[in-house]
Amino acid sequence: MDIIEIIEKKKNGLILSEDEINFVVREYLNENIPDYQMSAFLMTIWFKGMNYDETNHLTIAMARSGRIIDLSSIPGIKVDKHSSGGVGDKTTIALIPMVSAAGVTVPKLSGRALGHTGGTIDKLESINNFITDLSIEKFIENIKRTKASIISASADISPADKKIYALRDVTGTTDSIPLMASSIMSKKIAGGADAFVLNVTVGEGAFLKKLSDAISLAKIMVNVGKSNHKKTYVIISSMEQPLGYAVGNSLEVQEAIELLNNRGPSDLKELCFFLGSYMLIAAGIVKKQIDGITLLQETIKSGKALNKFIEIVKNQNGQISQIKKPSLLPRAKYHEDIYSFRKGFISKVQAKTIGQAAMLLGAGRKKKDEHIDLSVGIILKKKTGDPVKANETLATVYFNSVEKYSLIKESVQKSFHITDQKPEVKPLILKVIS
Ligand code: URA
Repeated sequence: MDIIEIIEKKKNGLILSEDEINFVVREYLNENIPDYQMSAFLMTIWFKGMNYDETNHLTIAMARSGRIIDLSSIPGIKVDKHSSGGVGDKTTIALIPMVSAAGVTVPKLSGRALGHTGGTIDKLESINNFITDLSIEKFIENIKRTKASIISASADISPADKKIYALRDVTGTTDSIPLMASSIMSKKIAGGADAFVLNVTVGEGAFLKKLSDAISLAKIMVNVGKSNHKKTYVIISSMEQPLGYAVGNSLEVQEAIELLNNRGPSDLKELCFFLGSYMLIAAGIVKKQIDGITLLQETIKSGKALNKFIEIVKNQNGQISQIKKPSLLPRAKYHEDIYSFRKGFISKVQAKTIGQAAMLLGAGRKKKDEHIDLSVGIILKKKTGDPVKANETLATVYFNSVEKYSLIKESVQKSFHITDQKPEVKPLILKVIS
């Protein structure tokens, strides 16, 4: 087989065979296909797309490029969750304790921050000594004991996706539906759970900007799940503004703990309850979504979800006192408020700009392996639809470098759009596909 012929074939809009797709994945991982040819291959997929069978073959080839975790020793239905990425998305940190307190078994594999989007693993590492790279044996042991564990998807989980994702990130091919579907599903299948609840985000702060694209992605992932005997639910939600108020690692952990204490932002709560209720349905614990939501509310009110989080953190060696007293989490040296120029209503808070500003402060990474500062970030004081006075605080920026702060303060202020009329606030949850 020849990579040039395969690129030509896709360039001409033809369908690739399973063997051809396996060849590309295997030979790229073995370094027999160089980055420049793989880039051309990915770009032809960006332009010409892939049909359902091709996407499924690509998913399986990537999943099988590494280890497929065997969770069969854990009884019951195991449900994993994934998000296609967003700004201020700390759902996993609040959601996993809630659903596991309600009886769901959750083997959760998470990722790190890249670009303007954050990563659960970095966020959790703001808890002192929290170990995210547990061995699979320890991961399984924790799930058996506590019903949940959250670890980083190690190098041997879908290694082809890791290599291809890094190349997509620098070749303008992240927002391809078949590439996103195969990337997400390969990691989930390799993670070994029986069912998946996936959150696809759409809007300014997400990879996909159009609802129709998010629906196409969702349908493909549900079908890939079906072909691999994994029940899959996709919840499409809006990422036009950051989720919750906090953006930045330790600030987001603190906000997730707020939610587990039955406080916290209403949009974060709504998304957690929505995703969680489908995790409960997938696990066979409830039949109706409303019953799932009631059960999840109860885990928060009773303190069971918070206790479950403490258990998860304890199993992974984290410092419990920081969960009980979140003010002990890492704190930046300085903070400054950003003020509004005028009065009116907030018509928009640009999620991507806020995410990029947090990244530039040090909360995220432009390139893989860059060191990040867990203590810095931004707390929004206003969200879309809120009234605002002139000179009122829009956001507080937490930073350790005055130079970095001066580089981003204007963009943070400009990311808040203010109008005279109160805008219509669009719903957070846009669609469910299963
Ligand atoms: N998240 C992933 O894991 N992969 C993508 O391609 C996009 C979002």
